[in-house]
Amino acid sequence: MKLITAIIQEDKLDDVREALINAEIERITVTRVSGHGRQQEITVQRGNKVIPNLIPKIQITIACNDPFENLIIDTIIQTAKHGKDGKIGDGKIFVQDLKECIRIRTGERGNQAI
Ligand SMILES: Nc1ncnc2c1ncn2[C@@H]1O[C@H](COP(=O)(O)OP(=O)(O)OP(=O)(O)O)[C@@H](O)[C@H]1O
Ligand SMILES: [Mg+2]
Repeated sequence: MKLITAIIQEDKLDDVREALINAEIERITVTRVSGHGRQQEITVQRGNKVIPNLIPKIQITIACNDPFENLIIDTIIQTAKHGKDGKIGDGKIFVQDLKECIRIRTGERGNQAI
């Protein structure tokens, strides 16, 4: 199992969700987050580091069985990108191995519970 965390631009959330549902990926958690990537420079003024502003983003979290990993990644890349070549700040996808998943209602675990 994998835990896929994607940070995307707010204006792409509906497109990404629609594409995921069309690909039959229907279980998703969406969180409003903020952060900074590599363009938000940390400048030094009078010897002090000036901390960059936090930029609002959307975090999408999906737990999936292994065969779905690439479909989910490809779907997010295709729909979260601005224009054909993408734009700075379009976001990032992090993939982690997921140790366990438990459906609280039934106690099912692992692949069955996803
Ligand atoms: N290494 C990281 N660790 C944690 N969060 C990150 C990391 N990189 C990016 N993020 C989060 O993802 C958001 C979007 O990042 P962003 O797309 O700007 O990445 P980037 O590495 O700067 O790439 P780009 O050059 O395309 O802008 C950031 O605002 C931050 O919230
Ligand atoms: Mg950036």
